[in-house]
Amino acid sequence: AFEVVLEQSGMTLTVEPGVTVFDTMRAAGVAVLGSCLEGVCGTCEQGVLAGEVDHRDSVLDDDERAANDCMMVCVSRARSPRLVLDA
Ligand code: FES
Repeated sequence: AFEVVLEQSGMTLTVEPGVTVFDTMRAAGVAVLGSCLEGVCGTCEQGVLAGEVDHRDSVLDDDERAANDCMMVCVSRARSPRLVLDA
């Protein structure tokens, strides 16, 4: 499991193994938008303020992944114990 801090919402969520960041946010009542839920459309993109993302989408190119400033929350996860999102 890892923690996701939603900076704008002032919430800290725990993302359990096998559960997506997207589903965790929705379950907490956060109005994050999604469409494909497979990491291909880019709808669920969220800004990343801190933490290291484990990118699992097909939207970002290598440079965008390396920039570590956004993520697709429907599939991507964390390499660090904690992510801070601009959400
Ligand atoms: Fe399509 Fe996440 S909903 S990339």
